[in-house]
Amino acid sequence: MTEMKKISEMKPDEIKEEVRKAYSKVAEGTAQGDIATGCCEEPAQKQSSCCGPAPDVKVTRVNLADALGYDTEGMPISATESFAGCGNPVALASLREGEVVLDLGHGAGLDMFVASKKVGNSGKVIGVDMTPAMIEKAKKNAKELGITNVDFRFGDIEDMPVDDDSVDVVISNCVINLAPSKAKVFQEVYRVLKPGGRVMVSDIVLSKPLPKEVSDEVITYTGCIGGAILDEEYLQHMRDAGFIDARITSKAGESIHGAYSAYIAATKPE
Ligand SMILES: C[S@@+](CC[C@H](N)C(=O)[O-])C[C@H]1O[C@@H](n2cnc3c(N)ncnc32)[C@H](O)[C@@H]1O
Repeated sequence: MTEMKKISEMKPDEIKEEVRKAYSKVAEGTAQGDIATGCCEEPAQKQSSCCGPAPDVKVTRVNLADALGYDTEGMPISATESFAGCGNPVALASLREGEVVLDLGHGAGLDMFVASKKVGNSGKVIGVDMTPAMIEKAKKNAKELGITNVDFRFGDIEDMPVDDDSVDVVISNCVINLAPSKAKVFQEVYRVLKPGGRVMVSDIVLSKPLPKEVSDEVITYTGCIGGAILDEEYLQHMRDAGFIDARITSKAGESIHGAYSAYIAATKPE
């Protein structure tokens, strides 16, 4: 059997290809088992989960969304079965009628659908994702729900197909940890936000450096742990991009490797 390449031996595009492969499987329902794989794939995660409150019960993606406070009533199963978030950023983003929201790495679209209700028909929710199978799934879900104020765009969050100064609020759920360059992501987020625009994301960050044998494995990287960076470093990338008031607003369950799920907020100056 050939040895799997290590993350430290890969170029950024090769890492993204591994991420795309992993989330195509999540979209197609071919990820192994029916526990919450993908964003919770790293074995240590199952001992002390950042992605849900129940390490010792069988966590499905649907009850993971429920456990994180989503109102899944009326959502098609196809919107929740591929859910791979680690928080509920829309609940905290205080969205207003008429706002333009951007969801980085929308997956099957759950956060976009919740946000679309809040901003109403005078507002709009744009999503950017680089996995075609996820985009197809999200489009199908939107059609089933009859939601029309959503716009799914194929693209990379390090170089987004979104106009400058065009967005009121950026949300994201367990995605930025997967990007090889967090600096590029936050430069892009800053570029597309209007002056005074807000960022509210949930993501996995670290309270201490990961052991190399953990960060170097493809499965831990695609499982949202290996690519996570120190919490302070994450906030510094936001400040370097120009954001003010970058802060962690709350935290949940730390794993044995010091990885935890955080809500992180910042504002673009007026
Ligand atoms: C862990 S899943 C989260 C999906 C969704 N936010 C949710 O909560 O269910 C990660 C998603 O981000 C997308 N993604 C990862 N890296 C990306 C990148 N560099 N650009 C665009 N999308 C990316 C993947 O395709 C996948 O759909």
